[in-house]
Amino acid sequence: MTSNFRTYLFLFFQVSFTIVLICLYYAYNTEYSSHSFAYPAISSIVPERQFDPDEGISYYEEIIQEHNEFYVDTPEKAVTDINIRPAYRGSDHLCLSRTRSVSCLKRDKTQCLKVSFVGLCGRWSSTLRQFPFEVTCKGTPQRKILVDHVDKPKAIENAQIVIFSFVASYLNMDVWLALRRFRPRGQMWVFQTEESPYYAVGLLPPWNFRNDSYNTSITFHSAADIQSPYGYYEPFRNEESNILENFTEILAAKKNFMIWISSHCETLHWDRTRFVKDLQRSMRVDIFGRCGNDSLCKTRWQDNCVQEVDDFVKSYKFILSLENSCCEDYVTEKLWHSFTVGTVPVVIGPRIENYERLAPPGSFIHVDQFSSVESLRDYLKHLDKNDTAYLEYFKWKKLGKVREHTIKEHYQNHVSDENICTVVDQYFERQNSAEKLKMFDPYGPRWKGLCHQCGRNSWIQNYQFPLDHERKNPWIWA
Ligand SMILES: *[C@@H]1O[C@H](CO)[C@@H](O)[C@H](O)[C@H]1NC(C)=O
Ligand SMILES: *[C@@H]1O[C@H](CO)[C@@H](O)[C@H](O)[C@H]1NC(C)=O
Ligand SMILES: *[C@@H]1O[C@H](CO)[C@@H](O)[C@H](O)[C@H]1NC(C)=O
Ligand SMILES: *[C@@H]1O[C@H](CO)[C@@H](O)[C@H](O)[C@H]1NC(C)=O
Ligand SMILES: *[C@@H]1O[C@H](CO)[C@@H](O)[C@H](O)[C@H]1NC(C)=O
Repeated sequence: MTSNFRTYLFLFFQVSFTIVLICLYYAYNTEYSSHSFAYPAISSIVPERQFDPDEGISYYEEIIQEHNEFYVDTPEKAVTDINIRPAYRGSDHLCLSRTRSVSCLKRDKTQCLKVSFVGLCGRWSSTLRQFPFEVTCKGTPQRKILVDHVDKPKAIENAQIVIFSFVASYLNMDVWLALRRFRPRGQMWVFQTEESPYYAVGLLPPWNFRNDSYNTSITFHSAADIQSPYGYYEPFRNEESNILENFTEILAAKKNFMIWISSHCETLHWDRTRFVKDLQRSMRVDIFGRCGNDSLCKTRWQDNCVQEVDDFVKSYKFILSLENSCCEDYVTEKLWHSFTVGTVPVVIGPRIENYERLAPPGSFIHVDQFSSVESLRDYLKHLDKNDTAYLEYFKWKKLGKVREHTIKEHYQNHVSDENICTVVDQYFERQNSAEKLKMFDPYGPRWKGLCHQCGRNSWIQNYQFPLDHERKNPWIWA
């Protein structure tokens, strides 16, 4: 850190502290309406930043010293006032629906637990399951779980379990420090996201807290404590194997060559959109969604819309299944849904060996199989002309089936009731055993270390963004 920056920070600290005092004065004298939304002045000490996973570490190291001092000197009232900033400005009130009555109000912690969500607010809020809600976990004893959302760190005090769910912005240092202050002994912190490490950096704790924040994890990765994949392949048991796919019908539906559908034109890890635009010079690619022809049905929560889009995609021989980042096990509905629909995915995402482990045998085309765009083009053209060769990609349908979570299950509910109950089981298992010491390190090989360069050959690697790449849009999702 330069000395200029130190001076600046010091000044800023002074000014902010004065503002805090002024705010405290007004807080005592003003009645805030429940919908008013004010950022506490202290949050402004941490400058607003766009996220970059490799930046997080040094960024936090730089500021932790100042904040440690600040923390020691901060009056309790100021800490209590810190808001957990919602992912989207103005969306905070959408998370809460306090009218619902819940019966789980008993004090007995073995039968009635409280689970709190941090950071779940977001663009999907209005379609999300509204808080609070209750989950009943079967087993002996049967337990009732009250699940609520917290918007102030102090509110975690009464919970046994806190689930940190994907947040698009950083939980800043003030929030982390306040959460630690209010964390009761033994409270279980759960790391939960559907996103890849590139997109879920908002959940990374400050570097110094990496080993004593999260007790457990719920992610797509096979080494997560609780795995929650977007989909999976399941070989048939013997009695199912005579269900046969009608290959004549598959072929009869095919009228078009290749489609790409995306509503997220800007990505963080690699330049997916530029790749597709370049590919259009070598072969026909129809681009649908916000990055191309936007005429497809858009209300994707509605079943009839899903069906309409599926029928359209089915008319294509190939679909580009391009993940927003390239990380082990990170394969999303972009892959699984192409199998459900019945088209052949051309994939960029994790390594080819990883797809071979997860996807049905012989079901996909990975770009790493080709040394240049021309060889990919020639191969796809060959498949387009030779029906026998093309249908080889559907042979797996005689061997097994693909199961996928619907968009609704994955994004609307975030954490299934089943996974909430698994976390509750873990909570009790860890009470009296050495397991309690087991932690989830989000900077370690089970999370941040999962990502790698997209593609093995230079014709794909060229699309990788440099680490200092400037994004135009701060809200870059899938
Ligand atoms: C979770 O981790 C914290 C910090 O290491 C620890 O104090 C607590 O006992 C753990 N809780 C459980 C249920 O394992
Ligand atoms: C966290 O644990 C890792 C090993 O799991 C260790 O290398 C590292 O020094 C620890 N970091 C901190 C800040 O305690
Ligand atoms: C497959 O579908 C076609 C067209 O719908 C039909 O004519 C044919 O009999 C079907 N074949 C089998 C084996 O079911
Ligand atoms: C968009 O796609 C629809 C459906 O295929 C087609 O009718 C329409 O002409 C396309 N629009 C443009 C601008 O290409
Ligand atoms: C079509 O593909 C099949 C299977 O890959 C192959 O055996 C056959 O020779 C090909 N036919 C032509 C005309 O290329």
